[in-house]
Amino acid sequence: MCGIVGVLGRHEVSPIILDALKRLEYRGYDSAGIATIHMGALDRRRAVGKLINLSDLMVHEPLRGRSGIGHTRWATHGGPSVANAHPHRAGRVAVVHNGIIENFRALRAELAEKGASFTSETDTETIVQLASHYLDEGLTPVQAARATLKRLDGAFALAFLFEGEEDLIICARRGSPLCIGHGEGEMYLGSDAIALSEMTNRITYLEEGDWAILTRNGVQIFDAEDHQTARPLTQINAAQARVDKSGHRHFMAKEMAEQPAILQSAMASYSGVGEGGIDLPEGLDFARADRLIMVACGTAYYACQVAKYWFEQFAGLPVELDIASEFRYRAPVLGPENVAIFVSQSGETADTLAALRHVKPHVAQVVSVVNVPTSSIARESDMVLPIHAGPEIGVASTKAFTAQLQVLALLALRAGRARGKLTPEEYAARLDELRAAPGFIAQALDREDEIRRLTEILAKARDVLFLGRGVMFPLALEGALKLKEISYIHAEAYAAGELKHGPIALIDKDLPVIVLAPHDALFEKTVSNMQEVMARQGKVLLISDAKGLREAGEVPYSLQMPTVPDIIAPMVYAVPAQLIAYHTALHRGTDVDQPRNLAKSVTVE
Ligand code: F6R
Repeated sequence: MCGIVGVLGRHEVSPIILDALKRLEYRGYDSAGIATIHMGALDRRRAVGKLINLSDLMVHEPLRGRSGIGHTRWATHGGPSVANAHPHRAGRVAVVHNGIIENFRALRAELAEKGASFTSETDTETIVQLASHYLDEGLTPVQAARATLKRLDGAFALAFLFEGEEDLIICARRGSPLCIGHGEGEMYLGSDAIALSEMTNRITYLEEGDWAILTRNGVQIFDAEDHQTARPLTQINAAQARVDKSGHRHFMAKEMAEQPAILQSAMASYSGVGEGGIDLPEGLDFARADRLIMVACGTAYYACQVAKYWFEQFAGLPVELDIASEFRYRAPVLGPENVAIFVSQSGETADTLAALRHVKPHVAQVVSVVNVPTSSIARESDMVLPIHAGPEIGVASTKAFTAQLQVLALLALRAGRARGKLTPEEYAARLDELRAAPGFIAQALDREDEIRRLTEILAKARDVLFLGRGVMFPLALEGALKLKEISYIHAEAYAAGELKHGPIALIDKDLPVIVLAPHDALFEKTVSNMQEVMARQGKVLLISDAKGLREAGEVPYSLQMPTVPDIIAPMVYAVPAQLIAYHTALHRGTDVDQPRNLAKSVTVE
């Protein structure tokens, strides 16, 4: 949510910053901007909308300089406009900022009283006005930045650039991620390592509360108490950090297609000498756990919802599951034998991170299932299980979902063994089924042409309903979420049995109803609910396997999935849910990878 970048280079930095912003654009695309210092003078360019608008502007109005900062914005305070776009500037200071300054109103009032005149509606402008005020009082740039940071409440990552200072950027991290890149006679900063991947693979991650002084010679890092400190330098895998569409039309298409390979290699990375040939972190203790707490947001939350069925079924473990933004504001009852699992693709989702921090002192273990092992959520967990999905750039999460499911399934099976609920044979059999998932997912992907044809009808709908029972209920929720976010069609999902308690009133001949129903133990019941829809002329699309489609009788539309073991059905049925959304969006001409109003990494509450 907002991406920031900074470069102290040996050459012109504008093209480098633009390129880094391109890799951060998944974090927000309401506006973008760059500020540089050239011959001591601070200047900036800003444009509303996607980065391409800023690049176009800079063709006509280039920005020279060997030091600069850049920003791609997801609007929080103040709508998308040039005035609200970063970098913000006051006097001799420019700032880029990701996060929210919670006390900005009080600061703004205080500064306005002292004569500051504001030109934007943003919280960020208070930062730059404060820093400018301190400079005017005679503080040095470092002192002014430090004094400013001390006045700010909230969660943020930010970077300051000062007029007249060609070899200085000051940056700080509180709540939002920030990393430093080390080059040869150059230094960089970015919201993530991907942003810096074309410049360096040598990265230092700032810790919570850190601030840093960058010059071309290196970086000095200070902790929240202003003590100079050392943070490790890590070598990132440049190939992994590099992102392109590999010939696909969209990142989302590429990421859906990658799923079989990812699940295969992720499984390989968990293979070892542990029980059933699977290695999970030592110390993971499900035997003593009296309750599992699972917290996540969005798609990751639906993965947890599927996993709840597994933990109950395979391990007899009670699961309390909640959306992070709700969980934190309840008074959840936590106990010393609870194990808490946090699931997050980015590992930076503000609500999930805050829930983790809330829970950590009260439970036995905090486990995270993340795609970014260097993320804040990973670093603050007792144990980390990476999903190994590689960078996910399409805003709609696809491969991360199936990879999360795979890791959660491994955890649930391990819990089943630890608690004596699964025999070694049952455990081995379920693992074998999991190992077969990539092949079945590939078969589901092969139905793409058929799905494309089916979505011609869906693309004309105003509303769409998804139905499912058991593990297919979270899949229905996921299908509705995907459709909403990239095609902008209103979609709802219901547990099929809940339909007649209200939502059935919506059914008429114009409402497409997508029913997810593999031929499992709940099939008959789901089909009865589907009949209730058809009796009211609802336009049903039944997604099932060969046996299910045979037994369901005549339906207006159907889509055949491979016949799969129950444990991998959620991963396989995720594919039509994703492809339906993707092709409906293509028919409607929406922006698949960067849907309106969304950002990939939600680092504000
Ligand atoms: C939906 C989607 C979001 C994320 C949610 C959590 O396609 O991508 O709902 O799943 O914002 O993000 P992470 O997993 O990064 O915590």
